[in-house]
Amino acid sequence: MLSREEIKKNVGIYAAGLVKPGMAIGLGTGTTAYWLIKELGARVKEGLQIMVIPTSAKTGQLAKELGIAVSDLNAAGELALTIDGADEIDPEGQLIKGGGGALLQEKIVAAASRELVIIADSSKQVDQLGKFPLPVEVIPFGYKQVIRQINQQGLCSKVILRQVNGYPFITDHSHYILDCEFVKIEDASSLNVLLHGIPGVVETGLFIHMTKRAIIGYPDGRVEVTMYK
Ligand code: 5RP
Repeated sequence: MLSREEIKKNVGIYAAGLVKPGMAIGLGTGTTAYWLIKELGARVKEGLQIMVIPTSAKTGQLAKELGIAVSDLNAAGELALTIDGADEIDPEGQLIKGGGGALLQEKIVAAASRELVIIADSSKQVDQLGKFPLPVEVIPFGYKQVIRQINQQGLCSKVILRQVNGYPFITDHSHYILDCEFVKIEDASSLNVLLHGIPGVVETGLFIHMTKRAIIGYPDGRVEVTMYK
């Protein structure tokens, strides 16, 4: 049986095969995307010519270190493809993302792409979203009012301000993250709309019908492509 890291490496290498010469692609963030970036770096060294739009500063930094050409989304126009990780995937391909705190840029880059392909190990597949706390990116100003409104509307069971070493976690775009705990998310689409209705909410980690394809790795070494409607 493969370790979780070996599974992530497998799907990262598999997904690199989708990247063709001359493509401009969105490059995901996280420990699974790491393996994709490493593999693309190796292929670039062998002559593959691509342009990437990173979904976070960390991904952009790694890509540059590996010699991959990095561009800006405004300069790039529509992207052929974005390949990114996920924290949860339901049977319809709805996602929770943002465990790494990059959800805003990830969603903008995905929306600018003809296709979002998800890479994940099989543990990310769930029957219903909500076990993984939903990251919600908020403006620091008055963020406690956002928490109050989420609680008043009963949108989730518990809201926690994400912190690192006792200080608020700051996103690449200088925002905070609220991690919202649920038992289950019954209607992800409505929840997304309700959260967006609260002033101060910048973006949610709910990616609703944004992906039609997930590359899933299993402990026995299989890598399978799951398609969604
Ligand atoms: C970062 C993300 C990641 O894609 C998500 O957290 C999955 O990460 P990993 O591959 O490390 O499990 O959304 O904001």
